[in-house]
Order: sequence, then structure tokens, then C-alpha cells
Amino acid sequence: MGDSRWLSLDSSPRTWWTEIATAPEGDAVSIGASGGLFFFGGYVESAKAKAYEVLYGARAWLGKRLDARWENDPFGSSIRASREEYLQLFSEAKSQAYPEVDATEKEMGLYLNREWLDDLALHTQIVKKKETKLAYPHGRLLYSILRREIADRGLDHVTVLETGTARGFSALCMAKALSDSGVSGAIVTIDVLPHLKPQIWNCIDDHEGRKTRADLLSPWSSLTRSVLFLQGDTLRLVERVGLPRINFAFLDAQHTRKSVLAEFNAVASRQLSGDIVFFDDVTPDLFPGVVDAVNEIELRGDYAVRRLSISAQRAYAWATRR
Ligand SMILES: C[S@@+](CC[C@H](N)C(=O)[O-])C[C@H]1O[C@@H](n2cnc3c(N)ncnc32)[C@H](O)[C@@H]1O
Repeated sequence: MGDSRWLSLDSSPRTWWTEIATAPEGDAVSIGASGGLFFFGGYVESAKAKAYEVLYGARAWLGKRLDARWENDPFGSSIRASREEYLQLFSEAKSQAYPEVDATEKEMGLYLNREWLDDLALHTQIVKKKETKLAYPHGRLLYSILRREIADRGLDHVTVLETGTARGFSALCMAKALSDSGVSGAIVTIDVLPHLKPQIWNCIDDHEGRKTRADLLSPWSSLTRSVLFLQGDTLRLVERVGLPRINFAFLDAQHTRKSVLAEFNAVASRQLSGDIVFFDDVTPDLFPGVVDAVNEIELRGDYAVRRLSISAQRAYAWATRR
């Protein structure tokens, strides 16, 4: 899968063009809030280029300062729960039944290995939080819907864009879909959280000391090889990710109407018939902005939208390009 880890970031003006070609396995690319990590000053001879340099240098500086807040323990600086508590939460989440998800899996005819899923979830989904119940069946849906698309369209190279990496759970479920389908491709995933900074993640692994996301995901290194982790704000990055085609997207970052629509529009301009965008948290009481965005997308008419509710707290939708 060597080639699949090449990524072109085109963030006009043209002097900003660069290629990220040789990121080592599990590496991350930090774009910064300004979207401007790389600046090639080949145009310094001209005053115009100098002006660009100063302007964008300042933007990059400001962006780095804005991003700094994500570098300092966004999940808190101390361990949230004992190992036993995490295991108890895991046992409750694992035993939940989701008949609607079972039915969708059956319809797709492709099933994610449950032992594999539960093991990944223990390290990347089981967190201590007050508000909502832990639930990770979206991993099964992403896997079976993506694999069905690959099979139905006869794809042999697949590009996936994800917004909202968090600890990497969904990115790995989609990487497994590519791997189990025997196709090449890449998962490009964006989050404001750093990939290579050791931190507390509010998960069972915190009991082994601070880990980077790369450390957390190291047991799945054969899959992270096909994942490119980008750090930065999706609103600044989605337009700049130089992917000519996005076969499948999972939008799971900021849950506002504005963000979801901006991300969707960036993705839609790179999709063709049969390509899919999947949405999490399409729940009116919790995330009305996501619900509004999905409704608006459906009204436009160029995507067929399906919805799946598994509880008052968790619902999904996916839109297939007509
Ligand atoms: C619900 S979590 C993603 C969960 C993940 N997709 C999964 O299923 O395991 C949302 C993530 O989006 C990130 N996020 C929120 N707003 C963002 C933004 N504007 N740009 C980039 N990342 C953002 C948060 O840092 C958080 O990690």
C-alpha cells in the first residue's frame, strides 16, 4: 500500500503547494489552524512573494497558537477511571444488542469480526463520560456499508475521508474494510488533536502511562499503514486536501449545521455516482445542527439519504450520490 499514503495538499496560493509523500508508518501531518505548515519561499525575489510570505507566516504563527490548546491534555491531565471501571463500561457496551444494525449488516451481507471490533473498542471507544451511553455499532455500519460499496462498484482503489479522528476507532474500522476487501487505498482523517503528542486519552491505556495516538493504535499497525492522520481544523482543511475523488466519507467532527454542510460540500465536489457520505449523531435532541444539515442535503436531491436510529441518543444517516 506504499503509494496510497501519498497525499497532495493544495492550499492556494500556488506557492503553498506541497506533497506529503514519505510520511513514515503511522505518522501525522500537522497543518495548523492556518493550514500552513509548509511554506516554500521560492518566490522571495519578488516583492509580492515576500508579502505573501509575511502574511502567511503570520497566519501560520497565529494558527499554531490557536492549535496549542489541543496540545495540552484536552481530555484532562489525570486518569479518569480505574482499570476495573473501564472494563465494566466495556462489558456493558459490548453486550448491548442493536437489532437495526444487525439488519443493516445482513442487508449488506458483510460482517465485521466482532472479536476484532470489541478489542479495538476497548482501547479507543470505552471512555468515562456523563452524558450519553457508550455505543460503537457505527464501526459495524461503516465497515459493512463501505465494503458493499466496494463490491457493488467493483472498486480496486478506494479513497476515504474522515473528519473527527478522536482515538482512531472509526478510521481503523474503515481501514479494515479496505484490507478485508483486498483493495488498495487510503483513509485520510482529520482532527484538531495531535497524533504524536503523548497524552491522557480517557481510556484504559492511560494506566500504562501517557501515549501518543500512534502508540495507542500500534497493535493495529498493519492497518494504520493505510491511514494518513492530519491535524488541524476541518473547516480550514477539507477544501485543501488534494484528493481528486472521495469514494466514501465519514463526517464526525464538529456537530454543527455549518461545519457538516461545509465538510459535505467539500466532499460532494469530489464524488461521483455511487459514492457515499456517512453521518453520525443524527439525533434531533442532541445534535439538531447535524439533523438540519442532513435534511438540507436530502432536499437538494442529488443524494439519496437513508437514516438509521438505534436509540434516542444515537442515530446515523448515509447519503449515496445518485
Ligand atoms: C465524535 S469524535 C470522533 C469519533 C471518531 N470518529 C470515532 O468514531 O471514533 C469528534 C472528534 O472531532 C474532533 N473535532 C471537533 N471539531 C473539529 C474541527 N473543527 N476540526 C477538526 N476536528 C474536530 C474532536 O477533537 C473529536 O476528536
